[in-house]
Amino acid sequence: MKRIGILTRDCAGINACIRSVVRTAFMYNVEVVGVYRGYEGLIEGELVKLDRRSVSGIINLGGTILKTARCKRFYMEAGQEKAADTVKKNKIDGLIVIGGNGSLTAAHILASKYGIKVVGVPATIDNDVNGVDLTIGADTALNVALDALDKIRDTAMSLERIFVVEVMGRECGYLALNIALAGGCEEVLLPEKEFDIDVMCKEMKEGSSKGKISWIIIVAEGKAHARDIADVITRRTNLETRVAVLGHIQRGGRPTALDRIMAARLGKYALECMLNGNTGVCVGIKDYQLVTVPLEVAVKPKKLERLEEYYKLIKILT
Ligand code: F6P
Repeated sequence: MKRIGILTRDCAGINACIRSVVRTAFMYNVEVVGVYRGYEGLIEGELVKLDRRSVSGIINLGGTILKTARCKRFYMEAGQEKAADTVKKNKIDGLIVIGGNGSLTAAHILASKYGIKVVGVPATIDNDVNGVDLTIGADTALNVALDALDKIRDTAMSLERIFVVEVMGRECGYLALNIALAGGCEEVLLPEKEFDIDVMCKEMKEGSSKGKISWIIIVAEGKAHARDIADVITRRTNLETRVAVLGHIQRGGRPTALDRIMAARLGKYALECMLNGNTGVCVGIKDYQLVTVPLEVAVKPKKLERLEEYYKLIKILT
C-alpha cells in the first residue's frame, strides 16, 4: 500500500487519532491524504496531503481538523458511486474512517459494494459501536457533561430546586446513564428503558412532604424533551422546576487522557491492520485488548451495557 486516506466525523480525540495514523504511516513510508468534510468531501474529491508536520499541535484539540458534514447524498447510489470513484481516481489504496455508527455504516457500504479497503475506528460520544467497549470521544463527553452537571447541582442544592437536564443520545442512553450515576442524580430517562412518570411524580410528592425538594433528573434526548418532563412534574406536584439542555457542549472540548491514549493506540492499530490486509473491519478495545470487529457487526445496534446494574445503583444511592 502506497497511499491511504482518512475521513472523520467530529468528537474529542479524533485529531489525536488522525495524528497517530499519519505518524505511523510515516514510519511505514505510506503517504496519507485527508478527506475534507467527511463523505460530502469524498463525493466532491476534496483531498489534502497530510505529512508528519501537518498534524503537529493537534493532540489536545477537540473536533476534527479535517472538518466534517452530515451527507444525505451518500444515502443514494449516485453519491456512493462518486465517493468510490474519488478513492479509485486518486489511487487511494485504503480508507481509514474515524466515526460513529453512521460513518461506519457508510464505510461498510464502500467496502461491501465497491470493494474499497476500509478500516473503521470507533469515535462518537454515543458509544454505540457494537463489539467494542468504548468509543473515542465518549469519555470526554461524559466528563464535560459531568462538569456542567456539578455546576447545576450548586444551584439545585442552594435553592432546593428540581432540575431536568437533557443530554445527547438520540437512540442510545450511554451518556445519560453514566452521567446520572457519576453525577449522583435521582432519576434517568433512557431510550432503552420503559419509564413511568406517574411513579416518579408520586415519589417526588412523597419526598417533598418529608423535606426532600432538590432533585436532578437526567433525560436522554432520544427519550423525551426535558421541557416536557419538567412541565408534567410541575403540573402534577406543584413543585417548581428548571430545565438545562446541554446540547453540543458535550461533543466539544479537550480530549481526556483516556481518549487521547485510546486514539493513539487505535490510530496505529488501524493503519497496521490496513497494511496487513485485515480490512472491512473496525478496530477497538475489548476487555483491555486491541481487537477487530467485522464492519457488519460493528454497525449492528449495541446493547446498553450494565443498564440494570447502574440503574439500580442510581436508585439505591439517592
Ligand atoms: O451521534 C452523535 C450525536 O452527537 C448524537 O448524540 C446527537 O443526537 C447527534 O449526534 C446530533 O447531531 P447533529 O450535530 O448533526 O445535530
